[in-house]
Amino acid sequence: MPHSLQACGKINDFKLSAALIDSFNMSMNIATMKDSRNWFKTFSETRQRKLLASQRDGLNITVEGKVLRNFASNDYLGMSVHPQVCAAAKDVINQQGLGSGASRLVSGDAPLLHQFERELADWKGFEACLIVGSGMLANIGLLQALANRHTDIFSDKLNHASLVDGARLSGAKVSRYAHLDMGKLEQLLQKSVAKQRIIVSDGVFSMDGDAADVASLISLAEVYDALIVIDDAHGTGTLGEQGEGLISEFAGHARLIEVGTLGKALGSYGAYILGTLEMIEGLKQRMRTLIYSTALPLSVIAAAQAALSLIQTTDVVKTLQSNVLYFLHQAQNFSLMPSSTAIQLVLLGSDEKALSAAISLREYGFFVPAIRPPTVPQGQSRLRITLAATHSQQDINSLIKALSNLG
Ligand SMILES: Cc1ncc(COP(=O)(O)O)c(C=O)c1O
Repeated sequence: MPHSLQACGKINDFKLSAALIDSFNMSMNIATMKDSRNWFKTFSETRQRKLLASQRDGLNITVEGKVLRNFASNDYLGMSVHPQVCAAAKDVINQQGLGSGASRLVSGDAPLLHQFERELADWKGFEACLIVGSGMLANIGLLQALANRHTDIFSDKLNHASLVDGARLSGAKVSRYAHLDMGKLEQLLQKSVAKQRIIVSDGVFSMDGDAADVASLISLAEVYDALIVIDDAHGTGTLGEQGEGLISEFAGHARLIEVGTLGKALGSYGAYILGTLEMIEGLKQRMRTLIYSTALPLSVIAAAQAALSLIQTTDVVKTLQSNVLYFLHQAQNFSLMPSSTAIQLVLLGSDEKALSAAISLREYGFFVPAIRPPTVPQGQSRLRITLAATHSQQDINSLIKALSNLG
């Protein structure tokens, strides 16, 4: 018996089985091979990712003591700092406290969640809605609930990591098609002999700013008997007359399931899934990230509800959309990637170019991240500019000037 175990009085009282000793020896071997300091050594040598502790006030971000105009936030409509949104959250905390205390299926459910689910479903034009903890949890839980080893999942190559991981964890066979390539998708669908098929796509692609061709996805789904999951995290609150998002024209289609987050244009936190009544009821029975996770605090739901009301009753979405048009007009001379959304990309190519451009922009007073591999393919490093309703035309002009100065 290993010496350290003999020394431990409590464990000495038990007869250790051979299997337990084996597993102990194995873990000792692993521990001596790799202790916690060098477990991630290869990553820390090659990766440049850094957590930047910053402070935000809606328009600016303070990074390393410097106040910069923030062009790197998904708070597209400035809702995270809107007084009405913050007041709604505070009111709920004052009346009902903070945490929900349990999963929705135990005691964490509340009338406010159901009320807001109804409002989201009506706004988006779907029969029913389910609110869950976050976009990551929504996609992982949804695909695990829908798919199994008898399912073929077809996934756009540039889908968000949450869809990629959800597809992987579901046990389905996953085929990835070239970005937005409907011809390739059709070829894959033609070959499928699985019992079920699911096409999975971002709505607006978060690192490219372009959008899925939802009409083509729906017609392929009809021909090849598939479901479609669209993650409209970045289209919600930014596209459509009233910010209803990318797929409003097809809302409520029986083959369509929409996922989106409350943490972007709605300025809060959490996520929703929209679909038919049967679909949503089914998810309540099967979705592990709903069943085994604490319900969201009601304060964040009240905040998102207040944000939705502002979206529906003010011109804030129009302001964002006119900022996007203004930027596109002013930035005609840059090598922008094709996008008509609030996510605008200046393609620079090499890592070094993108990184040095981002650093120089900080000198000019702007926070614009450089997006590099592995998030994007080698040689396609870029600056990712996120426009918001809170930016003025003057902000946009100054950013354009700074970009021009970079040459
Ligand atoms: C397309 C997309 N889906 C899902 C998520 C994850 O959402 P959340 O931050 O709520 O986990 C994000 C970004 O965060 C996203 O861009």
